[in-house]
Amino acid sequence: MKPTTSPVKARAHTNIALVKYWGKKDEQLMIPQNSSLSLTLDQFYTDTAVQFRDELAADQITFNGQLLADDGQRKISRFLNVVRDLAGISMHASVDTVNHVPTAAGLASSASGFAALAGAASRAAGLTLSPRDLSRLARRGSGSATRSIFGGFAAWNMGHDDNSSYGYPIEETVDWDIAVVAVVLNKTAKKISSRQGMRAAVATSPFYGAWVQTATRDFDTVRQAIADRDFATLGHVSEENAMRMHALNLSADPSFTYFNADTLHAITLIHELRDAGYPCYCTIDAGPNIKVLCREPAVTAVVTKLQAAFGNDAVLVAHPGPGLTFITD
Ligand code: PMV
Repeated sequence: MKPTTSPVKARAHTNIALVKYWGKKDEQLMIPQNSSLSLTLDQFYTDTAVQFRDELAADQITFNGQLLADDGQRKISRFLNVVRDLAGISMHASVDTVNHVPTAAGLASSASGFAALAGAASRAAGLTLSPRDLSRLARRGSGSATRSIFGGFAAWNMGHDDNSSYGYPIEETVDWDIAVVAVVLNKTAKKISSRQGMRAAVATSPFYGAWVQTATRDFDTVRQAIADRDFATLGHVSEENAMRMHALNLSADPSFTYFNADTLHAITLIHELRDAGYPCYCTIDAGPNIKVLCREPAVTAVVTKLQAAFGNDAVLVAHPGPGLTFITD
């Protein structure tokens, strides 16, 4: 295996989980408690360039033009160690990452970030990995990154060990007029990371067992709804699944939540739109921001209502996007 002599650049898009991952069985290998399913988006992506170089005394990581230190640096270096082990090399790397998420949009970037890093770092180390193996590698950085290797609807099979826990495409090219309206309600970094939050839910929520059971059922229902082009079921089950995930956090000890007052306000507005006959459903990750699933004819009504409440700049419209790509300048 020979590392490349010039940087390798990869691009990956973020994804929004319709059936969430919220808890690990194995923290070291990042094996989840349930399989999850998502939609990769076209708007928010990460470009990462990597080169392994003999002359470096340490990994050199820049994020949006700034050199990373401490925790951020350690997390990436730990991930690069997995790549170095796989490739049988010991060189340090230069990593240059640029996040193309509208200014501090407060939307998850670990999925696109680690998917792009898995692609660029593995190829720069001289490895040629299959999409499934790339997803297994991305998993080691962030669980949600497992699914961002693939475009459109993608799943993460929970598995039981490193080999059997991987992502796979369900429908890479989505020929369905699905849109996701993202509402940014708070741009600051979350206080409780997803890693800490899910750990607390697994350890202390009395409802955790019920979560695993219902999420497993939701996975099959949403998968079938995609095959049937049944948007009402897809939306309904995705919203229920998100609410149950957040109920785990409220029922943890100590109790916590990612919602703020605006989150509840936005949920109410979406319910009002639904009552008025617009099929739209919300989902929320480890933060206060809301993503609304709808079909193209409902986008204008959803955007108008949310902009009136939260301002024009808070609302962004996305569509299904592509999987990991390599970029040649
Ligand atoms: O893998 P992480 O740390 O990005 O955690 C993802 C957690 C959720 O976004 C809430 C759910 C999911 O499946 O993406």
